[in-house]
Amino acid sequence: MKKIIFSLLCLISAATAMAQGNNYVQDYTKYQGLAMTPPMGWNSWNKFSCNVDENMIKQMADAMVATGMKDAGYTYINIDDCWHGDRDEKGFIHPDPTRFPSGMKALADYVHSKGLKLGIYSDAGSQTCGGRPGSRGYEFQDAQIYAEWGIDYLKYDWCNSEGLKAEGAYKTITAALKKAGHPVVLSICEWGTDKPWEWGQNVGHLWRTTGDIFNCFDCIKDHGSWKAFGVMQILDMQKGLRQYAGPGHWNDPDMLEIGNGQLTPAEDRAHFTMWSMIAAPLIAGNDLRSMDKETLEVLINKEIIALNQDKLGIQGFKVSDEDGLEVWAKPLVNNDWAIVFLNRSTTPKKIDYNWAVQKVYDDINKLDLSLATTTYSIKNLWDKKDKGTATTKKALKADLNGHDVLALRLTKKK
Ligand code: GLA
Repeated sequence: MKKIIFSLLCLISAATAMAQGNNYVQDYTKYQGLAMTPPMGWNSWNKFSCNVDENMIKQMADAMVATGMKDAGYTYINIDDCWHGDRDEKGFIHPDPTRFPSGMKALADYVHSKGLKLGIYSDAGSQTCGGRPGSRGYEFQDAQIYAEWGIDYLKYDWCNSEGLKAEGAYKTITAALKKAGHPVVLSICEWGTDKPWEWGQNVGHLWRTTGDIFNCFDCIKDHGSWKAFGVMQILDMQKGLRQYAGPGHWNDPDMLEIGNGQLTPAEDRAHFTMWSMIAAPLIAGNDLRSMDKETLEVLINKEIIALNQDKLGIQGFKVSDEDGLEVWAKPLVNNDWAIVFLNRSTTPKKIDYNWAVQKVYDDINKLDLSLATTTYSIKNLWDKKDKGTATTKKALKADLNGHDVLALRLTKKK
């Protein structure tokens, strides 16, 4: 009898819930069809850290259009940490009223009017890394307000997340974004601690694989309780991860430091080329309003960007490493290949590359750079010059300065 009464009660409460419209089933999967190639955009953190305000963000959107970056494929204007004001008595977050007096909806409208998209930043924990209000306990309210503002991209950080499990915390914000109903690219930023590449594919569109980038080519910055890593260190830390990347889900080795004053022109080229080779998000981190010609030329090198944005979405790989000279390869559409020589040393190197000796084979996608059966023409993607034909009979010869790259596209000859 007790059992019957209990079942009846369950039935009645389920029916009441349905009648009240409470039959919503959480959807813990990300928005599909977004970021089918690595996201391209700009983020405030690397250059401005907490110094963000609406005028600066609007000027960045203007500059993205005026400089030709938008035409080159950059889309997202992303505000990082410290835009936040307080939560109101109902728990809804508001932007800092001094820095963003017009509000986020007006800012999103402005950015959208330029044909660009707006990104914002929050944190799975109680506070962001910059000590602003985090989303813990407010996930659904935050997602709802972001949707009302028209936010298109969310970078979701991992500071002050004690006691949380990363997979669950990121699934919660995904469910909240889904419920809010406005498509958002979700950038998982938990620094690779809990191997997001193993669980992130259906949860977010990109995931940080490492701690923060530091503005140097080849160094580690020890901050005491945490370390930040130079371009080469971060590149090395991508080892073993390429199998997890693909259209809609990318390894994120952090944002670009190009044009931020510490890298030489060669290092800027190398940074941009290697991030393109490993199908990384291309999120510029410099002041777009005042960059010099050299910086802009790197950021809008369309042929390097084409390697990054290639529709196959295959993350490139290291083929060989000899005395500081690395060779990298990336399979591209129509059986094309990108081949990059990276001189990690500080001294110039002579490249004398015998195509017959080194086998270039992508063992995950089973793709072969088959010079025996295919003829490829070679183009240098930085000086834009043709470099003849790739053949097993003739070695490729070139001089390469320290910390520089020789980036080639091999195109199948008709
Ligand atoms: C963390 C992230 C950075 C940046 C800062 C903001 O360190 O990894 O990319 O967002 O927080 O405080």
